[in-house]
Amino acid sequence: MAKLSVKDVDLKDKRVLMRVDFNVSLDKTTGEITDDTRIRAALPTIKYILDKGASLILMSHLGRPKGKVVPQLKMDKVATRLSELLGRKVKKLNACIGEEVKKEVDKLKPGEVILLENTRFYKEETENDPEFAKQLASLGDIFVNDAFGTAHRAHASTVGVASYLPAVAGLLMAKELEILESILTHPDQPFIAILGGAKVSDKIGVLKNLLDKCQKILIGGAMAYTFLRALGVPTGKSLVEEDKINEAKGVMDDAKGKNCEILLPVDHVVAPEAKSGVEVKVVGQSDIPSDWMALDIGPETINQFNQAIDGARTVFWNGPLGYFEIDEFSKGTREVARKLAGVRATVVVGGGDSIAALKKENLVDKMTHVSTGGGASLEFLEGKELPGVAVLKDK
Ligand code: 3PG
Repeated sequence: MAKLSVKDVDLKDKRVLMRVDFNVSLDKTTGEITDDTRIRAALPTIKYILDKGASLILMSHLGRPKGKVVPQLKMDKVATRLSELLGRKVKKLNACIGEEVKKEVDKLKPGEVILLENTRFYKEETENDPEFAKQLASLGDIFVNDAFGTAHRAHASTVGVASYLPAVAGLLMAKELEILESILTHPDQPFIAILGGAKVSDKIGVLKNLLDKCQKILIGGAMAYTFLRALGVPTGKSLVEEDKINEAKGVMDDAKGKNCEILLPVDHVVAPEAKSGVEVKVVGQSDIPSDWMALDIGPETINQFNQAIDGARTVFWNGPLGYFEIDEFSKGTREVARKLAGVRATVVVGGGDSIAALKKENLVDKMTHVSTGGGASLEFLEGKELPGVAVLKDK
């Protein structure tokens, strides 16, 4: 059911407590923000709320500090970047709750913005502790959740606060839900999914849920080798999840009954190890040498995948099709990204690695929608109700 959004409520002179997903990538050595997409994605909601005459108290997690203060994961750099992008002062506080925070919030005037410290510096956040949630909620008159990327987590700042405040969706949250909902419930057919990445276990739920919605599911990346093994194809030293072979076989059997065609690699780029500069060759589907591993889809697979994409009206893509961080094994992912950029179809992409590949090729703007949620978009397409969405008021 559709959820109420910021557009459905009166915001004038209100203090808006908003959960955003500012879990941005940081440079491991300098700690600088390397990708501010998620901050930019929240700007429309932030501006909308401020324009309506409200003040804003923003909260987000950053990384996984596990309930402790980790200096590298403080929100100061995020506040600075947000302030630059917004063209307004953003006051960063050193805590999420307590007297000092209350004092600052009491001083807030319409149009002013506060960013709280990393919510995950408190163990109560991930425990969805009711007292912590209540204290957070006491800072605002209304709760807005714009953190689609964290909507699959039932934490105090995503779920708990909604027990104490009217809770509505932000513009980013509403847009993400609308697009993902539409491809799940009434996609223009033919609908195809392209799934890659290392682990079958991360994608099995989506695969199962999409079997009766997609005409074709294209599988690449290391996860493809668990499927090939299930068909009895020799996979050499390729990554195979032994404990998922039966499940992979089950999915392929179900697909037949549901008229969904599963396309697996018909050729491979192989190497003795996953390293730059090693010997590399292309082999046929059943020709992976026993002491080599497959690290990318081969040229014939790229052809077949491209043909499937050409025939599609809706495409969902999550996960790289090879070990794309290493140049020698990046072609499959790159070619598919390029193909998607030119196709006349609704193309929705989720997942950090696929998005990184698009960014590398400067193709982000060519997609219909690039989701800010990796895990969240997968869980949504698995058919699960996201806890951070469930608590928002229905329309
Ligand atoms: C993400 O990056 O997927 C979200 O911010 C959620 O982060 P988490 O996986 O640490 O909960």
